[in-house]
Amino acid sequence: MSAKIIGIGTALPEKIVTNHDLSNLMDTNDEWITSRTGIKQRHFVTNQNTSDLATIAAKQAISDAKLSPQDIDVIIVCTFTPDNFTPSVASMVQKNLGLTHNMMAFDVNGACSGFLIGLEIALGLLNTHKNCLLIGAEVISKMLDFTDRSTAILFGDGAGAVVLTADKSREFNIINRAYPDIDSVLYANGINGDNEKQTIKMNGSEVFRFAVKALSEGIQAMDYESCDLIIPHQANSRIISNVSRSLKIPIEKFYMNLDQVGNTSAASIVIALKQAITEGKLKPKDKVLCVGFGAGLTMGSALFEL
Ligand code: COA
Repeated sequence: MSAKIIGIGTALPEKIVTNHDLSNLMDTNDEWITSRTGIKQRHFVTNQNTSDLATIAAKQAISDAKLSPQDIDVIIVCTFTPDNFTPSVASMVQKNLGLTHNMMAFDVNGACSGFLIGLEIALGLLNTHKNCLLIGAEVISKMLDFTDRSTAILFGDGAGAVVLTADKSREFNIINRAYPDIDSVLYANGINGDNEKQTIKMNGSEVFRFAVKALSEGIQAMDYESCDLIIPHQANSRIISNVSRSLKIPIEKFYMNLDQVGNTSAASIVIALKQAITEGKLKPKDKVLCVGFGAGLTMGSALFEL
């Protein structure tokens, strides 16, 4: 599959919530959160919704691509925290961009692997469509149970978007895998969920074990030695350092910004990708390996040239 990312944008809510702020809400502290996860702060919305963050990131990506919104043929929003069950966040972004021409717009729920699932779908659609706007966007703060201190400390809100266009000079290698979550180690109930509040529930140590295995598999499925930078899903620095040690890949080869944003699920990889580019850690033609893992359970991995 050949395609190129021609524009990238992100949106982070203004409000920053530090570990210290969380310690005023629950029995936790900065030392525990930092040493167990690497996270120092995250962003939470005050009055924005997922479609608002998605729209800001989308506008930035379209402008970065030097296109106008009318050039977009497909909008895919990867999210597990949509504003509504329907219409999709993608349809809301389409409306916010004022687009009425012939196009497709739909959401993908692949949790923290969502961006990579969306990427594989987008690459397929580029056979018949010109420019695809692929967005990862989440407002997870509205799904957190602040009495569950081992889960609530992990997540943040944010969005990231890329514009993809077919380009024979750029090859994408991509895989996505799904494994049934037999023991229900990571979930959030929907409308049929025994009236339990719709918050994220997790068996932290089981998810940790799966994450290490999935991240290792995702990296090993690609020619990782050829890449300039690995962008793993930003869940926990201990997951990443564990894999760095076991695969003997220097930790410097893994990009991390989870200290600043926490786990933003489907938005995490694209927010990190944009930040790595902005910091000059990635430049045109560099090879990047993105690996996601999460609820489902799911894993996705993509190796491509910028
Ligand atoms: N602050 C202070 N103490 C906390 C705490 C918090 N926020 N959360 C849990 N603890 C306590 C526990 O109650 C426990 O206390 P106890 O020994 O008195 O019972 C102790 O810390 C150890 O808890 P444990 O759950 O064993 O910690 P851990 O080292 O496994 O770390 C996670 C917990 C959640 C950080 C870790 O399991 C993890 O990151 N898992 C993966 C989660 C993830 O990434 N999910 C998304 C995937 S996409």
